[in-house]
Amino acid sequence: MSPEEALLLLRDVACQDNVVEHCVAVAATGVALAENVQRDHPVDISLVQTGGLIHDIGRALTHGIDHGVVGAQLLRERGISGPLQLICERHVCAGIPSEVAVEIGLPPRDFIPRTLEEKIVCHADNLTNHTFEDLQQSWRNFFGEKHGEVIVRYLNNLHSELTPYLV
Ligand SMILES: [Fe+2]
Repeated sequence: MSPEEALLLLRDVACQDNVVEHCVAVAATGVALAENVQRDHPVDISLVQTGGLIHDIGRALTHGIDHGVVGAQLLRERGISGPLQLICERHVCAGIPSEVAVEIGLPPRDFIPRTLEEKIVCHADNLTNHTFEDLQQSWRNFFGEKHGEVIVRYLNNLHSELTPYLV
């Protein structure tokens, strides 16, 4: 999928303007991050760009924490599977393990970014319009005492992994 096709798809499913603008910003941050990561590791920069553009497609239908799963389903219905679908599904927070997923109404499986491209889109999204400290606090509040620390640990790990490459 080209960046142009990704933008057309966002429009086709009726994503709001602010969502499209956010996706464009995340794609730009993701590409900048990926270009730095590429100094040390092979990374598919065009996948990061398209993935950044498409990651929030689920927000056409919901802004809830399930928008990643919903977005992946939306792509599936349009015959798009593979890496883009996984970027969508795994971009929420910095990873949600299955034991937390089941308790917040997500399907009972891990939603954790695994590939470099998944991690880069996920963290570019995190750092677009938010500071690292704000995220830590708001996720502790959202997930509460039981799961907040687990979710923040995923954030801290992802931040540590990608901090050397932040622009
Ligand atoms: Fe999102």
